[in-house]
Amino acid sequence: ALPRDLDGLRVVVSAGGTREPLDPVRHLGNRSSGKQGYALARVAAQRGAHVTLVTAHTDALPEPAGADVVHVSTANQLGEAVGAAAATADVVVMAAAVADFRPAGTSGHKIKKSDDTPDPTINLVRNPDILAGLVERRERGQVIVGFAAETGDEQGSVLEHARAKLKRKGCDLLVVNAVGEGKAFEMDENTGWLLSADGAEQRIPLGTKSLLAATVWDAVTELLRRRPDP
Ligand code: C5P
Repeated sequence: ALPRDLDGLRVVVSAGGTREPLDPVRHLGNRSSGKQGYALARVAAQRGAHVTLVTAHTDALPEPAGADVVHVSTANQLGEAVGAAAATADVVVMAAAVADFRPAGTSGHKIKKSDDTPDPTINLVRNPDILAGLVERRERGQVIVGFAAETGDEQGSVLEHARAKLKRKGCDLLVVNAVGEGKAFEMDENTGWLLSADGAEQRIPLGTKSLLAATVWDAVTELLRRRPDP
């Protein structure tokens, strides 16, 4: 049996991939399956937490037993729903793949192709960074967890990118997944690093997304134990 060490805690988990509409039948999306966020919500509920799962689009997944589930589509909708739930939450985990950009405009009718007009160009504008906004408005003692999907490149390794992102976002914990070559996205297993704002770095061995979820909740309970009394 799992420990009931999250008993009574209010947690918010975001999951899935947002969709940014171009017209009534098209959108910009991403490949998030939602499996990691759902596993985080399921494990938290099993360990006794009150869970609000704010979910964008996912593969067909069973609803985590005992969680309140809020369905959203766009990044802005996800930001509103997470923000509302976060106001009374002890912990917020941003596992959703949020679109960094959305089309500058959405056409009210289906964009047509035609031989006598030029091919369309999609102009994008930035979406707000929900995670950074949560950190700005953070309640005293609230624990905020981010996710990062990174690839290594000329600018640095996966871990170097992740350390910089943890600093930039200001969250307490950052889960880093190496992506590319069939890693992380759409898979049932996950691996990576768990970085803590206090400098601790933990390798997460390849395992199920439930196992990774358990590792995250273990780290969260450890932070909460050290949290100053309200
Ligand atoms: O900067 P990047 O998109 O890699 O950061 C990923 C983390 O930030 C994830 O936790 C994701 O949920 C969150 N995010 C967000 N709002 C955005 C983009 C990402 O909260 N607009």
